[in-house]
Amino acid sequence: MADAINIENTAAENESDIQYQYIEKCREYVCSIADKTGRPLKAFSKCMGCQMNAKDSEKLIGILKLMGYEMTEEESEADFVIYNTCTVRENANLKVYGRLGMLGTLKKKNRFMKIAMCGCMMQEADVVEKIKKSYSFVDIVFGTHNIFKFAQLVYNSFNSDGMIIDIWKDTDKIVEDLPSERKYSFKSGVNIMYGCNNFCSYCIVPYVRGRERSRKPQDIINEVKQLSADGVVEIMLLGQNVNSYGKNLDEPITFAQLLREIEKIEGIKRIRFMTSHPKDLSDELILVMKESKKICRHLHLPLQSGSSRILEKMNRRYTKEDYIKLAAKIRREIPDIALTTDIIVGFPGETAEDVMETIDVVRQVRYESAFTFIYSKRTGTPAAQMENQVPENEVKENFNMLLKEVQDIAAEEMKKITGSEQEVLAEMVNEQDSSLITGRLSNNSIVHFKADKSVIGTICKVRLIECKGFYYIGELI
Ligand code: SAH
Ligand code: SF4
Ligand code: F3S
Repeated sequence: MADAINIENTAAENESDIQYQYIEKCREYVCSIADKTGRPLKAFSKCMGCQMNAKDSEKLIGILKLMGYEMTEEESEADFVIYNTCTVRENANLKVYGRLGMLGTLKKKNRFMKIAMCGCMMQEADVVEKIKKSYSFVDIVFGTHNIFKFAQLVYNSFNSDGMIIDIWKDTDKIVEDLPSERKYSFKSGVNIMYGCNNFCSYCIVPYVRGRERSRKPQDIINEVKQLSADGVVEIMLLGQNVNSYGKNLDEPITFAQLLREIEKIEGIKRIRFMTSHPKDLSDELILVMKESKKICRHLHLPLQSGSSRILEKMNRRYTKEDYIKLAAKIRREIPDIALTTDIIVGFPGETAEDVMETIDVVRQVRYESAFTFIYSKRTGTPAAQMENQVPENEVKENFNMLLKEVQDIAAEEMKKITGSEQEVLAEMVNEQDSSLITGRLSNNSIVHFKADKSVIGTICKVRLIECKGFYYIGELI
């Protein structure tokens, strides 16, 4: 095999060409092993994080397939296993170590097996140390900034016995034009920006995903046009804070302007986006959403806490009143919108009164759905250093109280449109009952309805017959 091309901690101008060369070299190797063993080599990929991680995993799978691997759902029969990890809360990390132990046993039975670890957890020095020490059978460890180098790292691993570790602290480069394998044929995530500059005091994401970088509008538009040509009807624009999209580009553009451009692309029927930080949500965005025929009637607007005192300590840069005002404005301008949110319980110093403030916001805003999390201390974040970490038993009680309020209100809100006719994107055959199709309303709610699987990927007219709390039962019209 040819020598590895050496690129140190930076992406070259023609980076994707270089990576395609590595893919080709890996393919030769994978095919030669397949010839030797008389069976195709298989790869297993697991994504443990958010939509952005899922999008990264699609790129990894795209590369693995071009290398000649067949994808499998069975980890035990895989010749290549890759975990794309998340570290936003501690329990995510613990799961990874548990699975790694099991992988070690599998690897003993398959001498061709390669194990790769990547994603946000790998950006933490103590995690990499632990893998080096306790899981020395892992072949490749890389982080979030150099995912484009995957083929090169696999190639290097095919040519060496030791563990290959390549973690970058940060990057200002965006590598375009890498292969990607979509999970669904009819919908797709599209990265519009990477990283985060907000440094909410509890959050590890800015440390493991680096500084905010926006993709150029033309690159995004070209990707969406290509997706549309491939039959995609729904796209989800992805970024940690999409409302600050475009601010640091050479030719600045707002998120709302980008949406207007994407709306013009033929074939795309639905546009979603994640996530919106309340502090940066502009009137321009509300107007664009209101006027749009394609932007879905759903806004995920993370609250985190309803107590202005805690919000300040969280470095969220809005108050309870700012948030309530914003939510009311959005509901007034776009009455059929569903508002959803994320809430953290148990932030350092949080009292029962603070939790009551959060519940008060939940009562006023009346979310259609909300994710509630117990605060998890992340080493390296400012909140981890704060005094008055809340004892676990207190958190549990407050958490349950909040969860009940959230669920009761969500069920009441969802009931309101029972009986109505809705446009539903049919997404898959129901996992429990194969006579049902599971689809999604514009407002992101789930509905199950009787239909043939040929409707998958199309937008169907469905009447909502019954609301079951989190989801609806519907019938095709
Ligand atoms: N960029 C998005 C959120 C990314 S993380 C935003 O700003 O909204 C997704 C959610 O995980 C956050 O909204 C928050 O509610 C939760 N989260 C982040 N760090 C956490 C921590 N240390 N403990 C518990 N939940 C956390
Ligand atoms: Fe984390 Fe805050 Fe950035 Fe969201 S905006 S990723 S919560 S630091
Ligand atoms: Fe997790 Fe990284 Fe996403 S920490 S939530 S996978 S950005």
